[in-house]
Amino acid sequence: MHREDFELLKQDIIYFDNGATTLKPRLLADEVSDYYNNYSANAHRGDYDLSLKVDENFEKSRFLIADFIGADSNEVIFTSNTTDSLNKIVLGYFNYYLEEDDEVLITNSEHASNVLPWFELAKKKKIKVNYIELTDNHHVTLDNLKKSITRKTKVISLAYITNVIGDIRPIKEIIEFAHLNNILVVIDGAQAVPHIKIDVKDLDADFLAFSAHKMCGPTGVGILYGKCDLLKKMKPLIVGGGMNGSFEANGEVLYNEPPHFYEAGTPNIAGVIGFGKIIEYLNDIGMDNIHKYELELREYALKKLKEIDDIIIYNEDSSSGIITFNLKNVFAQDLAIYLNKYKICVRAGNHCAKILKNEINIKNTCRVSLYFYNTKQEIDRLVEVLKNPNLMEELI
Ligand code: ALA
Repeated sequence: MHREDFELLKQDIIYFDNGATTLKPRLLADEVSDYYNNYSANAHRGDYDLSLKVDENFEKSRFLIADFIGADSNEVIFTSNTTDSLNKIVLGYFNYYLEEDDEVLITNSEHASNVLPWFELAKKKKIKVNYIELTDNHHVTLDNLKKSITRKTKVISLAYITNVIGDIRPIKEIIEFAHLNNILVVIDGAQAVPHIKIDVKDLDADFLAFSAHKMCGPTGVGILYGKCDLLKKMKPLIVGGGMNGSFEANGEVLYNEPPHFYEAGTPNIAGVIGFGKIIEYLNDIGMDNIHKYELELREYALKKLKEIDDIIIYNEDSSSGIITFNLKNVFAQDLAIYLNKYKICVRAGNHCAKILKNEINIKNTCRVSLYFYNTKQEIDRLVEVLKNPNLMEELI
């Protein structure tokens, strides 16, 4: 779908690394260039037309993004990426409300961004990081979650869709159960928001983090969603211009309300405005259409890949566009380098999910991650290249 919108697809490549970052439609660069060429003033600081136009477009993006995830606009904070958002949630909120021996629940399949901030907090506050036992196909179930909860559990922090197994977690049920037990839920939405429709109010989500660049948007723009009352209790990790109303020599400071309270310094204005344009673009395509199409591609790819001798697929039961595999006796990175010879881009390695090896018993895998502009023809080509009888000789 919509391949003509992507300049890079005119090159002779097959891009299957959308979990790392997606391609960008031409309209993103057009929107960003328009800002830099025609009205590149600062935001929230000027009283002249150019600057007011920046304010208007910057805040329009916030409204579009809020609407896209079903939030109120004062619950949407601009950060630089998912990692930044998660760090701000962990260190700016939970740092102040967790006590020694409190427990946070994560899983072995989380990305580094949803593990390392908790490890740091654990060292600092002497809290415990515990793991929900996963099913044999590496999924989270409510039953398994219930087994891991104790009276000390205060937070559950989970990817909505994981970046290697690609399983979609039953987040709504998890949140419902968590709230009945006074537990807050943090959602790492990096791999989910670009692919499925998310409504934070319907989910009753406490915090959600995601990145623009994994959904056709610019790099350097992330979103931190937090419920209004939680954001009021959070503290900024950085302070400075743009987030205060006044301050005095004696140290008295009057801070702005969220979201601006958490946006000190000149933000990535071009990126934020560009992301707004991308939200309109994705709305036009329709998130349900994107998910439906990706599932169709996934089914097709699985059927074709399973025809290959010696393929090991690690996530047959998932329902996202992520397919993770190895060929027997082939090192994942060697396979990615081999595929590159045929201009096929996949990611190989541990994909920043470095404790997933505890579940799948292997460190490195190859990952195909699909988006709406991929095609069945591209999958056919991947399968053809993987079936090459000379593959072993051509490795490296
Ligand atoms: N988190 C990104 C990935 O899964 C970088 O590839």
